[in-house]
Amino acid sequence: MSELAIHGGRPLRETPFPGRGGLYGEDDLAELRQVIDQGSLFRFDGRKVREFEEEFARLYGVKHAIACTSGTAAIHVALMALELEPGDEVIVAPVTDAGGLIPVVAQNAIPLPADTAPRRLCMDAEGVAARLSDRTRAIVPVHVAGVPADLEPLLRLASASGVPLIEDCAQAHRAMYRGRYVGTMGRIGCFSLQQSKQLATGEGGVCVTDDDDLGERMRLCMDKGWVRGPALRAYPVMGLNYRMNELTAAVALAQLRKLDDRVAARVRIGDAIGRGLEGIPGVHAPVPAQGDRNTYWFYGLYVDDGVGGLSPVEFASALAAEGIPASHGYVGRPMHLLYSPVLERRAYGPTGCPWTCPHAGRNVQYTPGDCPNAEDALQHLIMIGMNEFYTEREADDIVGAVRKVACSG
Ligand SMILES: Cc1ncc(COP(=O)(O)O)c(C=O)c1O
Repeated sequence: MSELAIHGGRPLRETPFPGRGGLYGEDDLAELRQVIDQGSLFRFDGRKVREFEEEFARLYGVKHAIACTSGTAAIHVALMALELEPGDEVIVAPVTDAGGLIPVVAQNAIPLPADTAPRRLCMDAEGVAARLSDRTRAIVPVHVAGVPADLEPLLRLASASGVPLIEDCAQAHRAMYRGRYVGTMGRIGCFSLQQSKQLATGEGGVCVTDDDDLGERMRLCMDKGWVRGPALRAYPVMGLNYRMNELTAAVALAQLRKLDDRVAARVRIGDAIGRGLEGIPGVHAPVPAQGDRNTYWFYGLYVDDGVGGLSPVEFASALAAEGIPASHGYVGRPMHLLYSPVLERRAYGPTGCPWTCPHAGRNVQYTPGDCPNAEDALQHLIMIGMNEFYTEREADDIVGAVRKVACSG
């Protein structure tokens, strides 16, 4: 085996990995031109946002799709539609983006992270069961990095406890759990269209549901609670202005038509990497279970301590030195440790609300060890950048570099 690049050897890969510069083209421009020609960028003057919602709903086979301004907004719209009250509790993913958590606090509710299974990033039913209380008003699993959460036990638990489950699919467009698209199995599915996502429009979000009542409420919550139509204005529910504009929807429409081909490219390469990594001692690839589809927002693999004589942090650095877009640990620490200075008791200044609110049912604290599996998984996680422009060459180089580093010790 040749010398590792971190020790002065020749990197396995000497040219950059493909970027996503080719995402947009003439079809996006054609859609955008129609918006410019219509003379207004406002969704209620034009057709594009409505068309995008209709096409998104059709693609997922759901009754309602409500476009909004971001994945954060989508989660907030969903929580507003569920009519959360101050002091309510929401069970959240331990490994997520701040945008999945802040809406909980914005509703004056208290986020409670539920642990994952060992060496997994998605919350599991055991972790949720340990957090459920009579104050729980929503369970929000994240399909982290395109890997579907194990939904069946989560849905069973949600149904038995009468708590709605909201799927956060920000990182998992077109991922599947047992043959069904994620986002279509919970009461609500929430998506982000932020630039790094499988469906990318710079910013944007979508909520989906089959529930007519929730669909109607989410439409209102996305639009300041405004019932459009009657001459006398009415705002029967609390809402914010999370309206998508026509320019974003024009690009979203053009991109949506290419989504399945692009996701198929990610799946082909991601699955090939998984096959290539089989049998490397101490390296654990995210191989999808039967009927599942991982759509590889990033490629997350786990390495045991000491593989190649390295810690996981050193392993990631060694891979990066080999020319692989690798880093250690994704968000580094789970939400209850990473975000606690912001979310815990300082969201609304010195009041400590909502944690210290008289409506809160208990004194929630966040401490190391709350989600031991998630904490351990992040310690051992190697995150490799992925996109739809990778080819077999990138798959081979990733596998070759992991093998080189793992077998170097
Ligand atoms: C799991 C998860 N939820 C929510 C969000 C928030 O989405 P946005 O950045 O579009 O607000 C993100 C963004 O990365 C995310 O990864």
